[in-house]
Amino acid sequence: MEHRKLVAGNWKMHGTAQSIAEIVQIAAAVPRGVDVVLCLPATLIERAARAVPGFTIGAQDVHIEAAGAFTGDVAAHQLHDAGASFTIVGHSERRDGHGEADAVVAAKAIAAMAAGLEVIICVGETRDVREAGRAVVTVSAQLDASLTPIPPTAVAYEPIWAIGTGLVPSLQDIGDMHAALRERLVAAYGEAGARVRLLYGGSVKPGNAAEIFAIPNVDGALVGGASLTAADFLPIVEAAAAA
Ligand code: PGA
Repeated sequence: MEHRKLVAGNWKMHGTAQSIAEIVQIAAAVPRGVDVVLCLPATLIERAARAVPGFTIGAQDVHIEAAGAFTGDVAAHQLHDAGASFTIVGHSERRDGHGEADAVVAAKAIAAMAAGLEVIICVGETRDVREAGRAVVTVSAQLDASLTPIPPTAVAYEPIWAIGTGLVPSLQDIGDMHAALRERLVAAYGEAGARVRLLYGGSVKPGNAAEIFAIPNVDGALVGGASLTAADFLPIVEAAAAA
């Protein structure tokens, strides 16, 4: 199944009020034929949503609960209220840095959907797992255990060793992984599993975006560092629109 591509920017812990100008520049130049979302720090969501009405803003994480004594956390409906319509869950920087297991990731995705957010569930292997030849079996199991009863909008395959390193798997390895993940999605959801968009993430740049978007079952990208400026992000968005 051919999908309209989705390019999601993940700003991580970057950006202040000064960055709104960059977001305005990106939003103004998105071509037709591609979906784009910028997943911003919680502090910027409302400001960005006001600055670029009609442009899709996302969050990077949500709490499992809707409210309560959870100092420092943000609930999904609060992010929705601030202007987010998407969220990432299960990014490796949350899984590793905050000890989030697959069951927590699934619970976060359920909480996000309940609040009306579209969800991008992230999965990916370490370098050791890749070198041991166990990437596909490991990431497939991670996906199975992170899935929600209702299909998410997207799943992002992000090899941990490719994030922020400039390293990217071979096009063959990306294609093999995405084919395996597509199988898991169809096994879980039937026909609806064919409509979940499979994003690749990890050192996507203007120079490699077009070849990555040409791989079967790659329906877009999750972009970290290269999403921070219009100069880097827009060529990636344009490559997706042209693919
Ligand atoms: P990167 O990050 O594009 O900077 O490698 C991707 C991500 O962590 O989502």
